[in-house]
Amino acid sequence: MECEIRADDLRHLPMAVETELYRIAQEALNNMLKHSAATRVTITIRYRHGTLAIQIKDNGKGFDPASVAGKGGMGLASIQERVERLGGTCQIISRLGRGTTVQVTLPRIESHSEETG
Ligand SMILES: Nc1ncnc2c1ncn2[C@@H]1O[C@H](COP(=O)(O)OP(=O)(O)O)[C@@H](O)[C@H]1O
Ligand SMILES: [Mg+2]
Repeated sequence: MECEIRADDLRHLPMAVETELYRIAQEALNNMLKHSAATRVTITIRYRHGTLAIQIKDNGKGFDPASVAGKGGMGLASIQERVERLGGTCQIISRLGRGTTVQVTLPRIESHSEETG
């Protein structure tokens, strides 16, 4: 699996947000490995002016998000839940044969200073 990661400096991200972000990425990457048959994944993390945006994009087989809505899968639902708890938004962009992109945006994150660690 080819993997490209582009990330901003995340050192000032609050620990709680970092943990949530890790879980979100874990769920998305799990799905990619389990369902997508992708050969390539690109992870982009932007953290600028208090807004964090993570995008996990695979080139796999894709799916119809409408057809899985409310079907009881735990993964996508748990991503949605975590994002809502943090006051953010989540988009699942996918189409059969066109790969999948999971895009999460978390606004208004207060960065902590270097001193407080
Ligand atoms: N990256 C992906 N590529 C292809 N299909 C996906 C991807 N992510 C999710 N899916 C589809 O969405 C469904 C729901 O995902 P999820 O809520 O995590 O439940 P689960 O993984 O337990 O089936 C999956 O069963 C799969 O059909
Ligand atoms: Mg899953």
